[in-house]
Amino acid sequence: IPVDPFDLVIFGGTGDLARRKILPGLFRRFCAGQVPSDARIVGAARTDLDSDGYRQMVREALAEFGRDIACDEGTLNGFLDMIQYLAIDARGETGWAELAELMVGKGRVEAFYFSVSPALFGDLAERLQHWGMADEDSRIVVEKPFGHDLASAKELNATLARYFDEKQIYRIDHYLGKETVQNLMAVRFGNMLFEPLWNAQYVDHVQITVAETVGVGGRGEYYDKAGAMRDMVQNHLMQLLCLIAMEPPARFDPDAVRDEKLKVIRSLDPVLPHHIARGQYDAMPGNEAEMPSYREAVDHPRSRTESFIALKTHISNWRWAGTPFYLRTGKRMAARSSEITVIFKDTPHSIFAEDAGRHRNVLSIRLQPNEGITLGVTIKEPGPGGMRLIDVPLDMTFAEALGVDGSDHVDAYERLITDVIRGNQTLFMRGDEVEAAWAWTDPIIEGWEARHDVPKPYDIGSDGPTDSTEMMRRDGREWRKVTP
Ligand code: BG6
Repeated sequence: IPVDPFDLVIFGGTGDLARRKILPGLFRRFCAGQVPSDARIVGAARTDLDSDGYRQMVREALAEFGRDIACDEGTLNGFLDMIQYLAIDARGETGWAELAELMVGKGRVEAFYFSVSPALFGDLAERLQHWGMADEDSRIVVEKPFGHDLASAKELNATLARYFDEKQIYRIDHYLGKETVQNLMAVRFGNMLFEPLWNAQYVDHVQITVAETVGVGGRGEYYDKAGAMRDMVQNHLMQLLCLIAMEPPARFDPDAVRDEKLKVIRSLDPVLPHHIARGQYDAMPGNEAEMPSYREAVDHPRSRTESFIALKTHISNWRWAGTPFYLRTGKRMAARSSEITVIFKDTPHSIFAEDAGRHRNVLSIRLQPNEGITLGVTIKEPGPGGMRLIDVPLDMTFAEALGVDGSDHVDAYERLITDVIRGNQTLFMRGDEVEAAWAWTDPIIEGWEARHDVPKPYDIGSDGPTDSTEMMRRDGREWRKVTP
């Protein structure tokens, strides 16, 4: 179903995110017939370009980042026809009068995507209001990092609230746009099977892993000030934790869902120092030029920023008291693999002989790659050897089960952008959620800063530093192996 006609202004329209994600995402939806041809996309940035020059840039970006999109030249030209460019200075006067004129009197959805540094959010919001574009129907989309800590997040929220109502603010966490992340809710609340067991009585522990093979790349300056905790845990892993642990919302509507997520964040226990393992990747021996160490990559020889973190936390509420949640994320790990695993408790009593072995049900939800769900069940080992037990996976790869191929794939960004146009905030973070997540994160970071903690080195292509394995071993548990 096509969305309503809209005007989308992308501030930071020449930037990396616009070229890699936003524009290819819009193009894919256009090819799928979801973007009406009278929609308008306005790229805006400081660069001195005209609309033809910008369309050429978009054409090149699509050739590079939208290679998988099967579309003919005519369709591509149709998409480019919707696009124009305005050179705008967020802090100056250039371009604003032209933009205001362009947006005048249309009665259609208006969205402003702030794909720029958060330092400019306030300036953009103020200018939009000054030029009469912050009316009550307009929407703004903001990207992470949403603050650096609780104080800065509060300040950002307060700044935006001066010009826009919460209902108009779409804070992106692109993990919420991923297909399987939404499937988490479908699996939990669309089946009778799991929910009765979804609590501390039956669940031994939960593991959430987001492992990456990439390094910090060209983002060293940003990353070295952030680290894995701020870059991934405060937002992406926190959102996954919320969806796995929250109470069933009464309805699938934005505030019902976000209220439940907020309660989870507010119930999180502080994290103790010995429940944290931080790491920094080493260089790849023999290939230091292409695979430098973290410290070389960020050009900071004494950096104490973590490129890996593992931690244990608890959710202090009736459902989860006593069940540990282990979170782990890192760069340059063994494989790109994001997985949530729910490990159920042992049966209360085994009727089989000792040597039958003890087995556990394990439900794992793979977010990427090879999205799918596996449920490990215990059965009798086939053959005449008596009652010996083995675990077998009931495996469902979504692509196979649904018969979909890559072309049906909806990227997180395109889903989220269409949700903005439709006015659906369910998959966006509310201001209070972001603040609560920082309120939990801040003392953890302050703690290791006060202790002058130095992250432990780990090998490129490993599962992180040994501290992380040790942390699990002390609890008599082990991490799931990171496999593609
Ligand atoms: C971003 C982080 O938010 O998410 C990056 O800033 C990280 O450091 C990326 O690489 C991971 O996203 P995805 O979709 O590739 O798992």
